Amino acid sequence: MAQELTTPQTAPRGWWRDAVIYQVYVRSFADSNGDGIGDLRGIRERLPYVAQLGADAVWLTPFYASPQADGGYDVADYRAVDPLFGSLDDARELITTAHTLGLRVITDIVPNHTSDQHVWFRAALAERQGGPARERYHFRPGRGAGGQLPPNDWESVFGGSAWTRTADGDWYLHLFAPEQPDLNWDSPEVHEEFDSILRFWLDLGVDGFRIDVAHGMVKAEGLPDIGAREQARMIGSQVLPFFDQDGVHEIHRGWRRLLDSYDGERVGVAEAWAPSPERLALYVRPDELHQAFNFQFLNCPWDASAMHAVIDVSLAATGSVGAPTTWVLSNHDVARHVTRYGGDDYALGLRRARAAALLMLALPGSTYIYQGEELGLPEVTDLPDEARQDPSFFRSDGQEGLRDGCRVPLPWSGDQAPYGFGSGGSWLPQPDGFKGLTVEAQTGDPRSTLELYRAALALRRELPGLGDGPMSWLPAPDGVLVLGRPGVVCTLNTTGRAVEIGTPGRLLIASAPPAVSSATTTLSADSCAWWAI
Ligand code: GLC
Ligand code: CA
Repeated sequence: MAQELTTPQTAPRGWWRDAVIYQVYVRSFADSNGDGIGDLRGIRERLPYVAQLGADAVWLTPFYASPQADGGYDVADYRAVDPLFGSLDDARELITTAHTLGLRVITDIVPNHTSDQHVWFRAALAERQGGPARERYHFRPGRGAGGQLPPNDWESVFGGSAWTRTADGDWYLHLFAPEQPDLNWDSPEVHEEFDSILRFWLDLGVDGFRIDVAHGMVKAEGLPDIGAREQARMIGSQVLPFFDQDGVHEIHRGWRRLLDSYDGERVGVAEAWAPSPERLALYVRPDELHQAFNFQFLNCPWDASAMHAVIDVSLAATGSVGAPTTWVLSNHDVARHVTRYGGDDYALGLRRARAAALLMLALPGSTYIYQGEELGLPEVTDLPDEARQDPSFFRSDGQEGLRDGCRVPLPWSGDQAPYGFGSGGSWLPQPDGFKGLTVEAQTGDPRSTLELYRAALALRRELPGLGDGPMSWLPAPDGVLVLGRPGVVCTLNTTGRAVEIGTPGRLLIASAPPAVSSATTTLSADSCAWWAI
C-alpha cells in the first residue's frame, strides 16, 4: 500500500507553494559595464534567460550600499544601491522588466547585523559608554582584570571570538565578521527601522524577501556562556543561545502581517539553521514566513535511504503546519553539488547532480536553483589565495570554509574568459573547463544539463501532478527510490550500476537514458527519470 505523505491542502494555493526560484548571485551573474563585477543592468539584460529556463521568480543577493566585507551581507544603507551594482533606478527597471517577463523578484534582507559603516554603528562608536546609540547593538564591558576578556565565550561563525573591543574598552557582539555588528532586537527602534526598510522595497515593487540569518536576531537572556568550543559546528544540530531562540518568531509574525498588508502575495523565505526539521517548520507556521530552505536535504549524502528519510521527516514537519517544503541543493555558501557528490570525478558528480535535480523537481513543494547549477558547474577548487574574498572560515554542515569556489562568474558564451560575463575580466578567475559549459555551448544540445533543466521545468509546469500536492512511496529495489505523484512516477537510482525494475510508465524525461523493453526497464547508474502513468 502506498503511504500518503502530505496533508491534503485546504488552504488556498499560493504561487509560492510550488514556485521554482532562481538565485542570482549579483556579483557573478552578468557584468554590463566591463569592470569585472556583475551588476543590476547585467541582470536585467539577462532576465529573458531566466524566464526561458522556466523559473517563476528570482532571488537577488544583497546589492545595497556596503563596504563588501562579506559579499554585501554587511549593509551600510538598506535603501541605497551600491554604486558597484548600479542605482536605485536600475533596481526599479530590473523589477519592471522581471514583471513584464512574468518573473517575481525576491530581494535579500539582512536584519541580524549591519555593516560597521552603517550610520547607527558609527554613532554608537562615537558615543560614550552606555549611551542610547549603543542600545541598538550589543555593547558590553569585558570580563577579567580591566575588562580584557570578551563578555562571554561565543564564537563568530567565521572563526574567533564573537566580540571585538572598541577604543574605549567596551566590547560589541558580531556573530559573523567584526565588520558585521549584531543588532539588538530588544530595541523598538530596530523593529521600526526594519518595518520601514521592508516597506521601502515593497513599495518599489519587490515580491518578497529572503531573510538572512532569520534564526539569529534574538539572543538568550543574559547572553549566557556555551561552555564548548567549535560552536560553528553545532549550528543546525544543537540549541545555541544565539540561534533559533523562540523570540525570533514574534519578529516573523510582525513581518508576515506587514507582507499581508500588501496585495500580490508577497512572501518571506527564511534562511534559518534550526536543530531539527520540527524546529525549522516553526518558521513556516501559517502566521509566519512562507518558505524556509531545507538545508538537511542540501546536506544529505548520495544515499537512497538517507534521502528517503530526509524527504519523509521534512514533508512530515512542514506538513504538520500546512506549509510546503522548500528544496534546495546549492547556494552561494556551500560547495556546488556536482563537486559535493563527485569530488574530483566531474563525470560522476555531474551524473548525480543531474539526477538530484530531477528528484528535487519531482518532490512536492517549492524549489530554489542556484545560478550555474543548470549548467552543471563544478566548485572551482583551485582559486589563487589572492583572488579569494570570502571572510568565512566556517566549517560545519556542508560549509567547507572558503565560499568563493561557488561564486565564480557565470560562463555565457565564447571560448575564452570571461566567457561573455562582461567585456572586461571577472572578479574571480574562471577555469578553462568553463569553455564547454557556457549557455551558448549547451543551448540546443539535448544531452546538456541546461536543456535537461529547461525540459524538466517545462514539464513541471505542464503536469498538474507535480509541484504542490500529494506524494507516495512505491516499492523499489535497494539503492533505488520510486515515488508517485498524481499521474507521474519518479525513479531514482543512486547506485553505480544499472538496475532493472518493472515498467513504471511512459518515459517523460531522464537524466541518463534508461533501456526500455516491453517487459523490463533498466535504469542507468546514478540516474533519475520521470514516467507518465
Ligand atoms: C548568510 C548568508 C551568508 C552570509 C551570512 C552573514 O548565511 O547566506 O553569505 O555570510 O549570512 O550575513
Ligand atoms: Ca559591473
